[in-house]
Amino acid sequence: MLSYRHAFHAGNFADVLKHTVLVQILRYLGQKDKAFCYVDTHAGPGDYVLTSEYALKNREFDNGIGRLWQRDDTPACVADYVQLAKQANAGGQLGHYPGSPRFAKILLRPQDRLFLYELHPTEQKILQKSLGGDKRATIIADDGLKHASGLLPPHERRGLVLIDPSYELKNDYESVVETLIKMHKRFATGTYALWYPVVSRRRTQALEHALHRSGIANMHLFELGVQEDSQAPGMTACGMLVINPPWTLPAEMQTTLPWLADTLGIDGAGFYRIQTLAE
Ligand SMILES: C[S@@+](CC[C@H](N)C(=O)[O-])C[C@H]1O[C@@H](n2cnc3c(N)ncnc32)[C@H](O)[C@@H]1O
Repeated sequence: MLSYRHAFHAGNFADVLKHTVLVQILRYLGQKDKAFCYVDTHAGPGDYVLTSEYALKNREFDNGIGRLWQRDDTPACVADYVQLAKQANAGGQLGHYPGSPRFAKILLRPQDRLFLYELHPTEQKILQKSLGGDKRATIIADDGLKHASGLLPPHERRGLVLIDPSYELKNDYESVVETLIKMHKRFATGTYALWYPVVSRRRTQALEHALHRSGIANMHLFELGVQEDSQAPGMTACGMLVINPPWTLPAEMQTTLPWLADTLGIDGAGFYRIQTLAE
């Protein structure tokens, strides 16, 4: 498990979807003065150097944020996300990619709090460097899937939990459902965003069915594909499953996802899904 390094994938189409949705949820929570709490169960290092050998191995960012960097015709949500990523790149060249904790660091206000779980010792060190000095942030070297529910409900009674595993462990598909059910029991009004890959459509459907059966209400799915489903190894699509999203998010995604599917799809094969899994 601890061999996974997200730096290989930083800024790819999956990060574009994940972080575009993340930014919109955090913006929405920030509209009210009342404090909120952000919990990242799989924080990663917070900062990715795109000139590192990891990132350069497959240059996945070229087919993700790289395709958006110079565009001036992006939908508002994408423009917002790219603008925030540009704050991590002083000279204007795409050299760093911010991870989820760093997007949150930019968008949270002084009254808000971040809880960042990360298990990998190397990623913990980088995370300490990028966020350790921030008084709002608590970095926890522990299992976020098992233990983050202990933070809920937060005393602010407002917040977002991002669950973003690598799914290298096949039982992650089951564990995320158990975790969501447990968290939702403790904090039913919270917003939850679960990222999932489409590597095997069968596994993704099983995940959707399990969540549908959970009885959790107000659950929405936003999926972006760059290639048709395939039996060959590799991720062809990914999605964000959001419980209690901002009411504005489905409409925002209706304008954003078709554009991303056209722009990031490989040889015109891009597609998207927007679905209400539970009313
Ligand atoms: C997909 S990456 C996270 C990327 C990050 N959320 C972002 O958007 O920049 C998954 C991270 O979770 C870490 N990890 C794996 N299992 C974990 C667990 N049970 N609890 C906390 N961290 C875990 C891995 O070391 C890896 O850094």
